[in-house]
Amino acid sequence: MLIKPHGGVLVNREVKGKERETAVSQAESLKSLQLSAWAISDLELIGIGGFSPLTGFMSQADYEGVVHNTRLADGTVWSIPITLAVTIEQANQYQVGETIALQGEDGVVYGTLQVEEKYNYDKKLEAEKVYGTTDEAHAGVQKLYERGDVYLAGPITLLNRPDHSDFADFYMDPAETRQMFADLGWKTIVGFQTRNPVHRAHEYIQKCALEAVDGLLLNPLVGETKSDDISAEVRMESYQVILKHYYPADRTRLVIYPAAMRYAGPKEAILHAIVRKNYGCTHFIVGRDHAGVGDYYGTYEAQEFVTQFEDELGIQFFKFEHAFFCTECGNMGSAKTCPHDKQFHVHLSGTKVREMLRNGQKPPKEFSRPEVAEVLIRGMQD
Ligand code: ADX
Repeated sequence: MLIKPHGGVLVNREVKGKERETAVSQAESLKSLQLSAWAISDLELIGIGGFSPLTGFMSQADYEGVVHNTRLADGTVWSIPITLAVTIEQANQYQVGETIALQGEDGVVYGTLQVEEKYNYDKKLEAEKVYGTTDEAHAGVQKLYERGDVYLAGPITLLNRPDHSDFADFYMDPAETRQMFADLGWKTIVGFQTRNPVHRAHEYIQKCALEAVDGLLLNPLVGETKSDDISAEVRMESYQVILKHYYPADRTRLVIYPAAMRYAGPKEAILHAIVRKNYGCTHFIVGRDHAGVGDYYGTYEAQEFVTQFEDELGIQFFKFEHAFFCTECGNMGSAKTCPHDKQFHVHLSGTKVREMLRNGQKPPKEFSRPEVAEVLIRGMQD
């Protein structure tokens, strides 16, 4: 028996075939709103059920519940607002009750929104409650501050998917990953979120988890990330290389998570777990400073936060301490398993690693698999 989707039912807001053709031609006569790539990725995730039980952009009641209580209006756990921001001028063009076309910057109509509500919101309050800071230097908060002042809410219909042709072999809907797990006979599946190349510490915690479950879903986020993160194209190549050389093919699957990164630490860890539950994972890894950026969150704050919701969510968390290679042990470990002093632990900051890669220098093999480093060096120099 597969794990139930969040809220009980896997949402599908996509129309296909004749119904889609009719909807697409009707959309031509609707007023249209241009969406950012970020908003389109939210539209897509709602449409394909990754954000189940959401069926559209959040109403004010859901939004306020999420911001203040980490719950939708009906009490279901939800941690990050999924909202459609527009400027006041844009909001004035649309009436409550009308259906509008949602267009990309490329002119493609990706979907429609039945406008049920328009409401104002307090950006500072959202920043404080969701991101834990109002500092505009925070990558997620900065994005929030750049948005329009009004939220449009209501159910959506997905008419076209964003182009994922670069990663076509690794793009699956939650319904498809669920079917795949059933076909593979996997009953317990651990999901792994990442916005980085897989380093030895990632590999170690994934494999520790894999010792206890049937399969690993490596589920890298490939939507919008901050500019100094390594691009999804380069990362995807690096994932394929590490899987080929170091992972058991019959116990691992690589599937993209086409969402934008919020960098909201503890709150985003909950969202990440909910989505992986919808994809059919029974377990989810939360390591050190999950979805963090800078020094905004404590190393284990996300772990402590998700623990409060574990029973209700139904997905189980594998919580790992900061992992490292110990030269005395000659293997990977953490403070839980390694007795040696810090001086024997191989630690490299993200900034340092990026600098090495840009200079064509491979980080030590205790930090990164050489095959991965090669891909990254090539990717950083292109
Ligand atoms: S994230 O923003 O997607 O969370 P990242 O790709 O760095 O960032 O991390 C992916 C997962 O691995 C997260 O659960 C994170 O907590 C965990 N992680 C990253 N580095 C380590 C480490 N050295 N030790 C333990 N867990 C780690």
